[in-house]
Amino acid sequence: MSQRTEKILAQMSIDEKIYFIEQITTATFVPSLKRPNIITGPDSALKLDKELIYEVGTTLNLIGAETMIEAQDHFLAHSKSKRALVFMQDVIHGHRTLYPINLGVAASFDRDLARELAQMAAKEASLDGIGVTFAPMADLVRDPRWGRVMESSGEDPYLNAEMARATVEGLQGDMGKYNIGACVKHFAAYGAAEAGRDYNTVDVSERTLREYYLPAYKSAIDAGVKMVMTAFNIIDGVPCVGNKHLIKDILRDEWGFDGVVISDYGAFDEMITHGASENQKESAYLAMDAGCDIEMMTSCYAHHLKELIEEGKISEAQLDKSVLRVLDLKEELGILDNPYRSVSPEEAKRVQLSPEHRALARKGAEQSAVLLKNNGVLPFDKEVGSVALIGPLGATGEIHGSWHCGGKAEETVSVYEGLKNLLGDKVKYAQGCQIEYDSEDTSLFDEACQLAKNSECVVLCLGEHQDYSGEGNCRASIDLPEVQYKLLERILEVNKNVAVALFTGRPLAISRLDKLAPAILNMWMPGTEGGSACANLLFGEVIPSGKITMTFPRTLGQCPIYYNHYTTGRPKLEQDDLKRVPYTSSYIDAPNSPLYPFGYGLSYTSFEYSDYKLSGTVMRAGERLIASVKIKNTGKYRAREAVQFYIRDLKGSCVRPVKELKGFEKLELDIGEEKTVTFEITEPMLRYWTRNMRHESEKGEFEVFIGKDSTCAPFAKFELI
Ligand code: BGC
Repeated sequence: MSQRTEKILAQMSIDEKIYFIEQITTATFVPSLKRPNIITGPDSALKLDKELIYEVGTTLNLIGAETMIEAQDHFLAHSKSKRALVFMQDVIHGHRTLYPINLGVAASFDRDLARELAQMAAKEASLDGIGVTFAPMADLVRDPRWGRVMESSGEDPYLNAEMARATVEGLQGDMGKYNIGACVKHFAAYGAAEAGRDYNTVDVSERTLREYYLPAYKSAIDAGVKMVMTAFNIIDGVPCVGNKHLIKDILRDEWGFDGVVISDYGAFDEMITHGASENQKESAYLAMDAGCDIEMMTSCYAHHLKELIEEGKISEAQLDKSVLRVLDLKEELGILDNPYRSVSPEEAKRVQLSPEHRALARKGAEQSAVLLKNNGVLPFDKEVGSVALIGPLGATGEIHGSWHCGGKAEETVSVYEGLKNLLGDKVKYAQGCQIEYDSEDTSLFDEACQLAKNSECVVLCLGEHQDYSGEGNCRASIDLPEVQYKLLERILEVNKNVAVALFTGRPLAISRLDKLAPAILNMWMPGTEGGSACANLLFGEVIPSGKITMTFPRTLGQCPIYYNHYTTGRPKLEQDDLKRVPYTSSYIDAPNSPLYPFGYGLSYTSFEYSDYKLSGTVMRAGERLIASVKIKNTGKYRAREAVQFYIRDLKGSCVRPVKELKGFEKLELDIGEEKTVTFEITEPMLRYWTRNMRHESEKGEFEVFIGKDSTCAPFAKFELI
């Protein structure tokens, strides 16, 4: 809080203050859109006052520098107080230049890359006048049915925390006017929706919340994130937006967050639908009492806060606090000095989708891709005489991801274009089948098989449409459609030199594909330069180095399946995985192990891990141990490797996960090159939410692991004394 913002606050009437913390759509203030405004149009249900809407502090979602200027002009011309708007917008995996979905970026295991990509997004968005993005999404996820796993960085709290921090640093960092504010979401545990169904019930214990779900939000806060968005779901029976334990006790009091808290879209009214609030007035009370500053796209504050203050249920001081937080945010963003901030239609044209940004998006897609299987067909030889590109995702730009924000399919490089740019006219395309998950149409098979037969190698683009993941897009079946398998089988009859390029917004249960396909390169939803990246990876211009951060199940029945689970009292031994062992924690009709474990991903080269060392066998608080390993590139290509470091706490006052990621490093090694990688172990890294309901370490034994993926074996033990 500054003298300046306090002074502004002192000039505001109570009605102005209340409207100031309402958030409505930017479109309301853009006359050229000819969109009926909020008074008469579709938003009229909000029943907002036609003068006071010009006192709102923030708006959401609408892209374009000219549009922003028009909105700010219009707003300031009509506003009595002339307090400029802050424009907020979802910028999730890029703004105009899209990079891979966040689940892909996490697979790069590369913090610097995540930071660089966020910087690019911030720069493009700032030039469109955006002040804050609703990112990073830091929700831990375990259920691939949930459509929003694509926005997350996966199932591991440490990795999620690292990615959230890198993203906040990139968005808010050191680019001056090109930075934008970040808003971590969805607080809390939105990713734990039961049965992977969006907006569904979340029921996690305080321990699970603390250990698994909260660390990534906390990490964003420690990195200085400016805002927090509450989640749609309930926690312990209370919707997050009105959840005092979450917002007041944990976020404000325990973590000391004094930035802006915003609800998710329409969440105030949803408290009524949840059955947690009687009416809008109660919703306003519950949210304000819990500490939610901005109401997004409902009008409970506008209609009831004054009354609640008059009745003494909410104090004006509480309202003032929220208003001040938003004013402080505006000051920090520079909007008090310049309502137009960094908006620049000319510069936006130069910078957005510039060759440099496209190159970075391509790098992002290349580093995110995960080679899931390779029987030796990959990399294909660039000198081949003919390439068949087949599949419903082969010649479309609709592979850039479902949070496309300002990105467009027609600006996205399809795999067809990517291959043609790399290889020229020897690439021919046939669609083969339709992308709809319920399509049974085989009428295009013959043409595709003919092409496959006449070509030296086949790139088969399979998977799911980009709109099958993302908000509200949950799936009850996560295998490929039967028609895609049939197409693959038919193609294999005429050509075995086949690689599948897989496009997906989630882990899929593709055991059958794993059996059938000679090679599988998972591209996720790779963004604007997806097709170029795919071509480069398939033809060995770039060596795959991504590793999955969310487990791929063998079958949906194993879900939720994640590497950092507890052991149970009757674990099934790993060596018995394929056998039936009665009365162990297992299935009679499926192994316990996943198809591809957390941290898994192949390369065209090979890496040898040797000389594992731990610097000591005992450690006291304040001391440190060093774990190290030598890694040698023993293959034929210069390549990158994500080295992973795990610890297991063997016994605790509460049971501990079988393994926890505690560090990772992305190395680049030349052919024959060897490097030593070290990881530090300190006492704070061993803390967890103990039986005392505190973050603390407990004395005892710990196992140490370094490896290529989460299945690596322990190589040493130490004791915390
Ligand atoms: C989503 C948020 C998003 C908001 C604003 C909601 O439906 O859950 O993630 O930021 O809309 O677009």
